[in-house]
Amino acid sequence: MSATGSIVREFADLDALSSAAADEFRLIAIASVTARDCCRVVLPGGNTPRRLFEMLATPTYRNTVPWDRLEFYWGDERMVPPDDPDSNFRMANEALLAKVPLHPAAVHRVQTESGSPEEVASGYAVELSQLRTTPNENRSPVFDVILLGMGSDGHTASLFPHSPVLGHVGQWVVPSRAPKPPHERITMTAEVINAAREVIFLVSGADKAEVLAQVLEGPADAQRLPAQLSAPSHGRLLWFVDSAAASKLTRAGQQGRFRV
Ligand code: 6PG
Repeated sequence: MSATGSIVREFADLDALSSAAADEFRLIAIASVTARDCCRVVLPGGNTPRRLFEMLATPTYRNTVPWDRLEFYWGDERMVPPDDPDSNFRMANEALLAKVPLHPAAVHRVQTESGSPEEVASGYAVELSQLRTTPNENRSPVFDVILLGMGSDGHTASLFPHSPVLGHVGQWVVPSRAPKPPHERITMTAEVINAAREVIFLVSGADKAEVLAQVLEGPADAQRLPAQLSAPSHGRLLWFVDSAAASKLTRAGQQGRFRV
């Protein structure tokens, strides 16, 4: 995949990556609120974003981000209760959302307890449809920033290699099955991801090095490497990576890569 559409920023370690991501998040939030009086954010799951969330909850960002104009959604969720240790909502809520002055209705978690995976996915899609500017618009809602992680198998959100959901067109949220437990997931599709104004991947650790090089510098093969599906049609695609994850990238500087 040519990463010419991506900007890759490399950092010494996860702390430096998270600090820069927090600064970028604040810039995007302020710009969105200034332009549109709101900033709609999609959060990732997994462990990598925890440090970013913790930093955003510190006074440096707690006191300078326009939290009361931010709305939070999830790019994917495990089909577990919201208080389950595997819940993406629980991690974000404990590390960040419960610690910042959000508008009470600003947290749009996936209501995993509301039915079958199909029912939960369609319920979340209905919630997303309320974000459209005109009721009969069938284009995907536009999020201001979508944060994503990437697994060592090249998945992102809960879009897993060779999954039948990868090719879904016209659907915004679908059930998905993960190879590792919790197996049942709900995920936004690439259609929603690629409608965003900003897509930011957070990738840390040597275990991601091989797949990151394949995703950014290898041939296009989105069935095998679903992270390659992320190609915002009008938005910016940023990769915040630490040096361990970037250790197998070869074309320094060619894809807008900056060592910071
Ligand atoms: C999930 C995530 C998933 C995650 C990657 C990376 O629900 O697990 O959305 O896509 O971002 O698996 O996870 P780590 O950050 O833990 O490596």
